[in-house]
Amino acid sequence: MAVVESRYLVGNYAPVADEVTCGDLRVSGSLPEVLCGRYLRNGPNPLVAPEPSTYHWFSGDGMVHGIRIRDGRAEWYRNRYVRSAAVATALGEPVRPGPVHADMDFAANTNVIGHAGRTFAIVEAGGRPYELSYELDTVGPCDFNGTLPGGYTAHPKRDPATGELHAMSYFWGWGNVVQYTVIDMSGLVRKVVDVEVGGAVSVHDMSLTERYAVIYDLPVVFDVEAAMSGAGFPYRWDPDYHARVGLLERDGTTDEVSWFDVEPCYVFHPMNAYDDGGTVVLDVVRHPRMFDTHRFGPDEGTPTLDRWTLDLSAGKLVEERLDDRGQEFPRVDERLVGRQHRYGYAGAFLENDSALIKHDLQRRSSEVRYLRSDGGASEAVFVPSGPDAAEDDGWVLSLVYDTDRETSDLLVLNAADFTGEPQAIVHLPQRVPFGFHGNWVPDSP
Ligand SMILES: [Fe+2]
Repeated sequence: MAVVESRYLVGNYAPVADEVTCGDLRVSGSLPEVLCGRYLRNGPNPLVAPEPSTYHWFSGDGMVHGIRIRDGRAEWYRNRYVRSAAVATALGEPVRPGPVHADMDFAANTNVIGHAGRTFAIVEAGGRPYELSYELDTVGPCDFNGTLPGGYTAHPKRDPATGELHAMSYFWGWGNVVQYTVIDMSGLVRKVVDVEVGGAVSVHDMSLTERYAVIYDLPVVFDVEAAMSGAGFPYRWDPDYHARVGLLERDGTTDEVSWFDVEPCYVFHPMNAYDDGGTVVLDVVRHPRMFDTHRFGPDEGTPTLDRWTLDLSAGKLVEERLDDRGQEFPRVDERLVGRQHRYGYAGAFLENDSALIKHDLQRRSSEVRYLRSDGGASEAVFVPSGPDAAEDDGWVLSLVYDTDRETSDLLVLNAADFTGEPQAIVHLPQRVPFGFHGNWVPDSP
């Protein structure tokens, strides 16, 4: 009888067993003196071996990996489980107290951010953020002093003008409602708007412009049967569900949304968005469909980099393909969130090689940095060389797995010399399994 394996439990998808603390990491090249903070990355790392035939990558317990950099040195590496009640209990530790939403006590596994001097592991679909200490130990689930009504999202957008976090959250228990929230600089939710959509939809990410919060109301919706059967991620492609994008006025006082129809597809991650006269421009990674033939995804067609231009007066959305090569995890200089960007970064798998792409969307060109075919890079994160540095003046950070040594490195590239000699490589004491999202969290934002 054939053994059913999950591709998400083998190779560098396999979990690591130990929580490691390691100081004074070996560095090749030279780390920029101005980098002072932590590179953090979250991803699934099941604590108890799951049943391979039913394991869904999205459902593994979160583990956060962190690298602390200061004064040109890599001071430490740490990896820590996010302690949900189940994880804490399995580890023989006391459960961390805190406000869980709707029994959705889940070891947040999707993203990790800094805000208001605090650190949060975050996830979507009803789960609350888990607060972590600076050293990545779990404090507990967080509702921002009682100001967050429900769960949160793995993809808040930070407005560079104010530093506030804008988010679009979803939860099957809310029916056909998604929730827009704004968290202020003190770490309190100052605005909550419930928005009606077409069903219990999965809204993985959102876009922010200076004027609008953007809602991706696309045909991946909650599947009751899958949930009843215990599926790790009970959301499915629904060919009968509409595909549309909504614009909600950020500073408006109503929940009215302008909707724009789009060809059926799914977007996990926009690259960025901005207002441009009478239009709104959305650069997105577009999947032709998702969780349709494969409930585990993501083998559902090539994810391409597309530009959607929304004509506000005509109420029409025009689609344009910027790059037909398969790519995901798009990022820009975070200082340009909601503003027109020139450069963007994405991870890719090209001609059997793993790669990082740097897009120049002004010149409509790109540079590709190829990595080992059997290795793989994590999301590329841009860090400016200073607060007033030009868009291309800084470094691109990405974790890269080395199959020969079975370990991972933190690659630090000069953004302006993307394919050249790395600025630095930080050698880690163990591999970092392929996971989801990472961020540079400076000590002084
Ligand atoms: Fe994501």
